[in-house]
Amino acid sequence: MRTYNNSAQIHTALAGFRHNGQSIAFVPTMGNLHEGHLDLVRKARQLCDVVVVSIFVNPLQFGPNEDLDAYPRTLAADKEKLFSEGVQVLYAPSVEDIYPQGTHAQTLVHVPELGETLCGSSRPGHFDGVTTVVSKLFNIVQPDVAVFGEKDFQQLSIVRKMVKDLCLPIRIVGVATARDADGLAKSSRNGYLSFDQRRIAPVLNQTLNCCREAIACGFDNFLQLESHARMKLLQAGFDPDYFAIRDARTLRAVTEDTEEIAILAAARLGTTRLIDNVKLSLNPVSDWGMLAGGH
Ligand code: PAF
Repeated sequence: MRTYNNSAQIHTALAGFRHNGQSIAFVPTMGNLHEGHLDLVRKARQLCDVVVVSIFVNPLQFGPNEDLDAYPRTLAADKEKLFSEGVQVLYAPSVEDIYPQGTHAQTLVHVPELGETLCGSSRPGHFDGVTTVVSKLFNIVQPDVAVFGEKDFQQLSIVRKMVKDLCLPIRIVGVATARDADGLAKSSRNGYLSFDQRRIAPVLNQTLNCCREAIACGFDNFLQLESHARMKLLQAGFDPDYFAIRDARTLRAVTEDTEEIAILAAARLGTTRLIDNVKLSLNPVSDWGMLAGGH
């Protein structure tokens, strides 16, 4: 595995692969890699000849009172994991390499609407930070395919829209959320949880699943479901940020045209903010068709 810390060097090295006709899959990360990230890497390996992973804790996507300084940085252990997964290229740039004139002087990429709701409204500027760094990384790596986790469902939707709106020739692939045995979505931030908080944490996923079950059974008073879910989270010891039943495609309210529902939640346990989501197709006929081998 070759490691680069400099954008010009990796750009040149990847041009060599491309020149040899090899396709490139890219997995952007902030490091502290867990099974969820490794699932993305495995997907990337299936799709292309060369897998490039970036590890960069992006200051632009952290708010002033967020956990930028505390965010776990475990480069040596991450490198071993990536090497074992057969990753050929690691890009681990410095903040100066990505933001040579500082973050304040950086041109921003803003995705309207999708980027302003849910996590976008509770973490102002967060998604501008994500889309800006992802655009820069895309330009440096120039991948054929980029792989993102569905745990950050809103991020995935925003990146898809950005790629479409900016006509970037990159296929975006989403990978299902990796979970612990009790349902907790794997996240680098789970490491912040105390023993007691870790015991409570799976309630987030349980509450999402209960809500999905209720909708699947025909319960359609979404406001009531959302407020009931928030209450359950509060009772379990969470400080809920949002619990929202949305159209999975637009992340707006569900309408009669909605084909798939996404139920998304963000809630704090102490100072740790956890997010998760589940989906529900409203088109059981097509699901059945797929299961039965149809098209
Ligand atoms: O999902 C993440 O880890 C980050 O938001 C990303 C996509 C690597 C951008 O910094």
